[in-house]
Amino acid sequence: MVKYDVRDLSLAAEGRKRIEWADQDMPVLRLVRERFAREKPLKGFRLAACLHITTETANLARTLQAGGAELALCASNPLSTQDDNAASLVKDFGIPVFAIKGENRATYYRHLNAALDTRPDVTMDDGADLVSLLHSKRKELAGHIVVSMEETTTGVIRLRAMEKAGILRFPVIAVNDAQCKHFFDNRYGTGQSTIDGVIRATDHLIAGRKVVVCGYGWCGKGVAMRARGMGANTIVTEVNPVRAIEAAMDGFSVLPMAEAAKLGDIFITTTGNTSVIRLEHFRVMKDHALVCNSGHFNVELDLVALEKAARKIRRHVREFVDEFTLPSGRRILVAGEGRLINLVAAHGHPASVMDMSFAVQALTTEWALQNRRQLGKKVHEVPGAVDEWVAALKLKSMGIKIDRLTPLQRRYLASHDMGT
Ligand code: ADE
Repeated sequence: MVKYDVRDLSLAAEGRKRIEWADQDMPVLRLVRERFAREKPLKGFRLAACLHITTETANLARTLQAGGAELALCASNPLSTQDDNAASLVKDFGIPVFAIKGENRATYYRHLNAALDTRPDVTMDDGADLVSLLHSKRKELAGHIVVSMEETTTGVIRLRAMEKAGILRFPVIAVNDAQCKHFFDNRYGTGQSTIDGVIRATDHLIAGRKVVVCGYGWCGKGVAMRARGMGANTIVTEVNPVRAIEAAMDGFSVLPMAEAAKLGDIFITTTGNTSVIRLEHFRVMKDHALVCNSGHFNVELDLVALEKAARKIRRHVREFVDEFTLPSGRRILVAGEGRLINLVAAHGHPASVMDMSFAVQALTTEWALQNRRQLGKKVHEVPGAVDEWVAALKLKSMGIKIDRLTPLQRRYLASHDMGT
């Protein structure tokens, strides 16, 4: 069996420095790691994790390893792997990694299968790809799975659909839905890292540009907030009427895509849905409009239609940017091949926010294994105690103190007859 597959082990020294740098900003995860090293709550379990192979994920992997888990990692996106980081995980931490930045579809799935070949008891997904394989081509391994953890909104949506269809073969935990995950990672993490990705890909000035944010879920809220913060004239598109009102009352222009398409300079999709920006939209965009995606899968921009319609395609007009000339002569710039721009062109969410997401991951994995006999074959929530613990420690690490309820306030909240 192949033990690992990374770009180049000689990149490990640089990767290690960056893993340690990220670790400095992950104090909550570090506390979990220290306790895991003493108590070994994951001992005896094999774990396959399909995540973005970033330095933050490296620190999660170190934590799971410290807890006694035997671990294999593969990438949850062909373009999000940091090769130096992958090399260090293999060379310095002895963790098998199957991931190379830029791998093609066949290699991507070969790597997922290699992680599954370790016959895991636990899987960890960012987008449900391992769970999908365990319900299709690798069904023979599904009976072995004790529990599966899911990191992202798109994955949780897929898993709930599987639960509804009655086909889920093992318990899964919606880590994404923990408050300490999506309130911060999806909003502040995606907000900052997406704008960072756009800037690294283009060197464009954001101030004064018209930025169209498609979708006003937690990720869209974060991106719109940060685009506005940098001086963009920000437009939101939505299909959900309540979210559309929220965007309007947050002070954004809200428009249908057909109208926003004519106005925008930069388009960022964050919906988790397919074909959000289509040929009819590309056709009416301004010359040199830039489109990119920050949703999990590369389906939000209809690039197949754009490519078919294009009169000329210039690949890599600069790193991460391709140019498509339409029959009208207008040029559309596509950044990051329509894949997660924050992980393709930048380094994903900063460590400080992944600290909470991955502390939730590690602690919920421990909880799920302790409670595995009670977990049914459905999508489970993260226990509230995990959120409270992570929030309390994050606050402490930030040097922030808060008030406590007084006994009177506690009684008041519990009562139904104390009024004026
Ligand atoms: N998803 C978004 N940013 C990430 C990061 N830095 N590490 C792992 N997964 C991520």
